[in-house]
Amino acid sequence: MLQVCDHPLIHEEIGRLRDRACPSAEFRQRIRRVASLMLPQVTANLPTRPTSVETPLEVTAGARLQRPIVLAPILRAGIGFLDGFADLLPEASVGHIGLARNEETLQPEPYYFKVPPNLAEAEVIVLDPMLATGGSAAEAISALKKAGAVHLRFACLVAAPEGVEHLESAFPELPIFTAALDRCLNEKGYILPGLGDAGDRIFGTV
Ligand code: PRP
Ligand code: URA
Repeated sequence: MLQVCDHPLIHEEIGRLRDRACPSAEFRQRIRRVASLMLPQVTANLPTRPTSVETPLEVTAGARLQRPIVLAPILRAGIGFLDGFADLLPEASVGHIGLARNEETLQPEPYYFKVPPNLAEAEVIVLDPMLATGGSAAEAISALKKAGAVHLRFACLVAAPEGVEHLESAFPELPIFTAALDRCLNEKGYILPGLGDAGDRIFGTV
């Protein structure tokens, strides 16, 4: 279930992020902005429960999110995507999933996993700017499910059709959100046109 977050402000940011001349500091700011612009669509159908609230004048109906939110960035690049979500979801807990894609085999290699204890009752939003082969995202979702997560969604900045297909066939019910759906992968597993190595560009390790 793929949804492309289609908005003129998102198009503008993605275009600037793709530019190889965009320096790290600006890249971090822009990725944060795109995350915040995507958040309304990513969270649009979160269930709420009715509450009542006393205004200074009378009692009226209110609403609260039914479940706590867990933001689950895939390290490293997911960290760059986290703040734009956390800015608008300040009460969310954060679970970290450390995965490094082996550049020869393109398989994800797990190195860290630390999640909050309320995973089973939470709405878990998995964050990674890049969905390339889909191996890292699928590994993260599997690990979160094994740890008890039930309500999951995945948000990325740029997706390749190959990665979307991989995730959709592994998890047909998983909502997937992306700011851009690109053309394909190259022979090294990089997204075309893409924006290069997101982690390196965020952290200045190019
Ligand atoms: C990148 C990216 C994703 C993964 C996508 O991370 O942030 O996690 O590759 O590729 P895939 O869909 O083919 O698995 P990388 O492993 O390079 O680590 P980094 O974030 O530390 O740079
Ligand atoms: N990881 C990235 O950071 N970029 C790609 O294009 C593919 C994987």
